[in-house]
Amino acid sequence: MAVVNSRTREAARVRIDYERCLGCGACARVCGTTLTMEGGRPRVEQGRLFGCIGCGQCAAACPADCLAVEGRTMTPADMVPLPPLEARAGFGELYGLMLARRSVRLFADREVDRETVDRVVAAASTAPVSIPPSDVNVWLLAGRAKVREFAFEFIDQLAAKKKWLFSPLVLALMRPFAGREAVEAMRDFVGPLVDSIVAARERGEDALLYGAPLVMVFQGSPYASPADPMIAATYATLAAEALGLGSCMIGTVVPFLRQNKRLAAKYGVRPNGRDGLAVVFGYPAVEYRRAVRRTFANVDFG
Ligand SMILES: Cc1cc2nc3c(=O)[nH]c(=O)nc-3n(C[C@H](O)[C@H](O)[C@H](O)COP(=O)(O)O)c2cc1C
Repeated sequence: MAVVNSRTREAARVRIDYERCLGCGACARVCGTTLTMEGGRPRVEQGRLFGCIGCGQCAAACPADCLAVEGRTMTPADMVPLPPLEARAGFGELYGLMLARRSVRLFADREVDRETVDRVVAAASTAPVSIPPSDVNVWLLAGRAKVREFAFEFIDQLAAKKKWLFSPLVLALMRPFAGREAVEAMRDFVGPLVDSIVAARERGEDALLYGAPLVMVFQGSPYASPADPMIAATYATLAAEALGLGSCMIGTVVPFLRQNKRLAAKYGVRPNGRDGLAVVFGYPAVEYRRAVRRTFANVDFG
């Protein structure tokens, strides 16, 4: 039985060109589901677990390029040459990029061109997913005017529901299944944050999406792991940094869009989306002079 998601219900197929196969076994060693070695040759055993998930590990590891993976949206053309070593960031460059990244909330009066948008999306699509193919949907809105219109409509609808959403009754009803910490966060963090966003809107300011020229929403399908869209959004922020763009994750957008199906439909956000994260992008209007050293809550060796 194949692993089902919103894009596919089938197992992928692996074809092996035995004429070219060296019998090295690399494909079977990296495969967690389907390939075994028998008599010095790889064998496809779709029934062993849940069949081939189309991760491409076998074809990526094969020194003779004799494996083709097809199905679950994958085609042999999806196996592309590895970038040469000199084209890959080393730890120093990657760490430098990560350290230099800040959440940017002040944007220059400059749009983001289509080619740059496409590069961010292409880079984010390389993110690991719980089970391929990715079941993350990306919804994006480009152009300062469009983003502002969306932000103001979003805030107006949020303002209309604010009293009810953060009422003592709703918070009390939430507590048994969401837990005390979630209720505290709603009451002491999200509530005041929404109040300040609504107050700024009354002054004609966009304190939700910060007047950014580009917003992307990464949202998983009901089949996806809640981590999938978050990881894709994180990759997008790093890609943006490398392209000279600032970015900021916006946590309030997806939970409210899930509640407000009419608004989502009006702006073409796919229905049935689950967890996810919005990210705004734009050229920074401030230059940062220092980085911030951060720590985890705990780093424990077991
Ligand atoms: C899941 C998540 C949701 C966030 N939501 C918001 C948000 O709604 N508005 C905002 O201004 N920043 C938001 N941020 C950005 C954080 O506030 C920011 O990462 C934090 O202040 C640390 O700053 P830095 O990213 O510059 O290190 C969010 C970050 C994450 C990871």
